[in-house]
Amino acid sequence: MNVRRVEIKSLGIHVPPRVLTNADLEKMVDTTDEWILQRTGIRERHIADPGMATSDLATMAGREAIARAGLTPDDIDVIVVGTVTPDMMFPSTACLVQAKLGASKAWGFDLSAACSAFSYALTAGNALVASGGAKHALVIGADVMSSIIDYTDRATCVLFGDGAGAVVLGASNDDQVGILDYDHMIDGHGGPALCMPAGGSRMPASHKTVDERLHFVKQDGQAVFKFAVRNTGEICERLLKRNNLTGDDLALFVSHQANKRIIMSAAERIGLPEEKVIINIDRYGNTTAATIPLALHTAIETGKLSKGDLILLTSVGAGFTVGSVLVRWGI
Ligand code: UT7
Repeated sequence: MNVRRVEIKSLGIHVPPRVLTNADLEKMVDTTDEWILQRTGIRERHIADPGMATSDLATMAGREAIARAGLTPDDIDVIVVGTVTPDMMFPSTACLVQAKLGASKAWGFDLSAACSAFSYALTAGNALVASGGAKHALVIGADVMSSIIDYTDRATCVLFGDGAGAVVLGASNDDQVGILDYDHMIDGHGGPALCMPAGGSRMPASHKTVDERLHFVKQDGQAVFKFAVRNTGEICERLLKRNNLTGDDLALFVSHQANKRIIMSAAERIGLPEEKVIINIDRYGNTTAATIPLALHTAIETGKLSKGDLILLTSVGAGFTVGSVLVRWGI
């Protein structure tokens, strides 16, 4: 139950400087720049140096977001980190980030929803601020996907990159702007189609699991693709309809970046022309929890996002998880 309207006060991102191009991958596995570009839209992705963990990227993005909001770490009441690549199983990445930021008054937790983690974390942060439980929430999507990618598997290694994005949420001073509505859905039958089989309680780490390369992402690309195409468009349509809106009312479509073809099929379904769709998968690949804040950053950087714009954020990922959040931008 919302008691106050919540808005995104600021955005911060961090991508590691090292770039892995399609040409680099051509030397590592049996693939081509042409195949990767045509099937996914990816040209290059950023990869963290060894020793760089998710909490490092998340902290840099978080610090930037806090400064841009005109706040200090002590102003943050709660930290929600969406990730599938926590530094370790526990403590949570949120705890590590809290300590690094020096956000001494914040509590926090990690949220596991793979590529929908940012949408879900945004919704969780929104609820905490809306209820009055927190004045400011720091919501972060961060992943070092290169730590769980098998660089001998051409079906997955060309797809992913590393990055982090963060937003600060706070009560809106303007009741026209903020997080307006959301629609989320999961279908747990999709689990086997995209997962990391070992390292959890079902299959703890052993010599056998390492030998069988089970600590890496495994994906049935076509199954995920079909689910994503059907459900991305569907959830967008449903959320718009519920709010008596159509694609014409949207200034921008800011989707998870897993495959340019999935994004464009959803955009087509809600009747959006290409100029209203943010695509940056060419530069970053699929950074899992970080794609949406990175896409928001691209939208700002290219002058496509302005105060008062109605935007639709959407994601689909492992689980399966599906998310859609309607926002009137306030920065
Ligand atoms: O964010 C998490 C959610 N994940 C997604 O949304 C990913 C959804 N899936 C996809 O984006 C696409 O399914 C992929 C990009 C992963 C694959 O594209 P596709 O058009 O579905 O290709 P495919 O898996 O049907 O493979 C077609 C062919 C196969 O060869 P044959 O059997 O036709 O001879 C693959 O072995 O392409 C081959 N192939 C490759 N060839 C060159 C697979 N990966 C590669 C590669 N380079 N990297």
